[in-house]
Amino acid sequence: MQLDHNRHGLVIAGRSGSGKTSYLARYLRGAPAQVRFVFDPDGPLTMRLGAHSSAIAWDPVGMVDRLGSGWVIFNPSRMFPGDNRAGFDFFARWAWNVSGKMRGRKIFASDEIQKYVPPTGAPGEGCALVWDTGRQHGLDSAVIAQGGNRVHELIRAQTTELVTFQLVSRRGLEWPGDLGLDLKELQALGKGEFIAFDLEGGAKHRGNLFGFQRKGKGGIPEKGAGGNGPKAKRKHAI
Ligand SMILES: Nc1ncnc2c1ncn2[C@@H]1O[C@H](COP(=O)(O)OP(=O)(O)OP(=O)(O)O)[C@@H](O)[C@H]1O
Ligand SMILES: [Mg+2]
Repeated sequence: MQLDHNRHGLVIAGRSGSGKTSYLARYLRGAPAQVRFVFDPDGPLTMRLGAHSSAIAWDPVGMVDRLGSGWVIFNPSRMFPGDNRAGFDFFARWAWNVSGKMRGRKIFASDEIQKYVPPTGAPGEGCALVWDTGRQHGLDSAVIAQGGNRVHELIRAQTTELVTFQLVSRRGLEWPGDLGLDLKELQALGKGEFIAFDLEGGAKHRGNLFGFQRKGKGGIPEKGAGGNGPKAKRKHAI
């Protein structure tokens, strides 16, 4: 039990092509953690992480094998053909269980969360474990959703930081609106530009992913911090 763990729940939102997957990949590469559990059925995160295909785990043996590297990237297509939701639930439950046996911070990450945890209805056991009781196992989360309205209430309730790229649809803007963010500013963001909002402290930072201007907590490291700086070109980072 890690009851002293200060859980960080990151949600990255934004319209299509705005920079979400690139942000998550940079965040994961820079975040200090014992293990990053990455659910990536279609491969966009693996690609943005610069990970070699040999880094992908397809089954429990591969998952356990990769724990020591600090990265477990799971592709569910062999174990759960055509059923990514079942794959997500399996991987989330496994990540939560494994996290309980390790000290330190772990991160559970997924692109396009609305595909695996539909915004309405029961969230599934894996999701409930990671978001409701992740703290007990030192397990943080970092996920992407196209719009704020596509994030399940359980995940919203456990969000401590919202990073939002340009949002245009009225429904996508609902959650940021509820949080008091300036909707006109969100609608006017350019490609790669984002607002990072700390839901606990209320601090707001504006940044540009492709201009590497972001400063502050919980985000992309500055050049030199952990070797993941903007100019670090690592073809096969993992
Ligand atoms: N350094 C860069 N400068 C400008 N554009 C870039 C740079 N790196 C990546 N891009 C482009 O930015 C776009 C957005 O990237 P990304 O895939 O991260 O967005 P996304 O929000 O995840 O998109 P989607 O909704 O399609 O998944 C891509 O078209 C990518 O080619
Ligand atoms: Mg993407």
